[in-house]
Amino acid sequence: MTAFDVDEEKVGRPLSEAFTAPAISATAFTRLGEDSEAPVLPAPVLDGLAGPLGDLVRPAAAAREATQEDVAKALVDHEADVLVIVLPTGASQAIRMFAGAALAAGVAVVNATPEEVARDADIRRRFKEAGVVLLGDDLRSHVGATTLHTALIELMLSRGLVLGSTYQLNVGGNTDFLNLADTGRSATKFASKANALRAAGMTEVDGVAGPTGFVGHLADTKLCFASIKATSVLGSEVEIDLKLKVEDSPNAAGVIANAVRLGKAATDRGLSGTVDGASALLFKSPPHGLPESEARTAFLEFAS
Ligand SMILES: NC(=O)c1ccc[n+]([C@@H]2O[C@H](COP(=O)([O-])OP(=O)(O)OC[C@H]3O[C@@H](n4cnc5c(N)ncnc54)[C@H](O)[C@@H]3O)[C@@H](O)[C@H]2O)c1
Repeated sequence: MTAFDVDEEKVGRPLSEAFTAPAISATAFTRLGEDSEAPVLPAPVLDGLAGPLGDLVRPAAAAREATQEDVAKALVDHEADVLVIVLPTGASQAIRMFAGAALAAGVAVVNATPEEVARDADIRRRFKEAGVVLLGDDLRSHVGATTLHTALIELMLSRGLVLGSTYQLNVGGNTDFLNLADTGRSATKFASKANALRAAGMTEVDGVAGPTGFVGHLADTKLCFASIKATSVLGSEVEIDLKLKVEDSPNAAGVIANAVRLGKAATDRGLSGTVDGASALLFKSPPHGLPESEARTAFLEFAS
């Protein structure tokens, strides 16, 4: 196992130490065994630290000189099976650089960010032609805002209600939310959440769900406030207002583990390009989204 970063607090340090470097607010970590002493490798900075992160994170000198070829070579040298891209939202060049490096190295990709990678027809075609698996886009957290919001939409539709308006506001205090406080960086997150609501059966969703604030003292705690209005029997009104409070990082950890397993299993089965069906459970914006219940069935079918 290996990892890449640009932060001078992380590059060159063993994973076990880089996990708790200053800007990180997550509190629980998995055990890595012998891999925990592997050093974090430098990656090209590109647009990784554009926006508010640039005031907080200083790039390591080695990262300023790193190239896409270095990343591809490191993936080959470490005999990587799957590359997980967990870069800041909006870092379009850096995210695409990692996808390109993985393609060159023949390594499957999990794009946990909302950047269009698996949804980009050209990138998809290149992975397919090269026989490399490509999973994404934008991780769907285990019990997160999107999972809860889309499950309630599915429930209301299954009960025959006519959906009205909805919104989903999210605040948090980790570096992801700091980065997302910049509207130039958060656009793809809004688009991705809209894709998930659309796949659940809701229309008129542009701009109604997304990150809406950075509150530093919340650290890794994320709060979601959502509302769904609908019309029921004899025109009666139904309105659900909810608040969800979760720890953001562990909420993604199990899904990332499942995405890595899916990437490896798909590669071992000789698949290439995107994996429809099974991907819909793990990502908000796969090329072909599905309602939660159908996505779960497709995932379990793949896993069995
Ligand atoms: N619950 C979740 O954590 C969750 C759920 C769904 C999607 N995501 C997505 O995952 C992505 C990462 O979220 P996060 O909370 O881990 O963010 P984070 O801010 O904690 O981590 C981003 C990391 O990327 C590094 N980085 C910046 N530029 C880089 C470059 N060019 N090369 C290599 N590393 C670089 C930063 O130094 C930092 O360590 C975001 O796009 C987010 O939307 C996260």
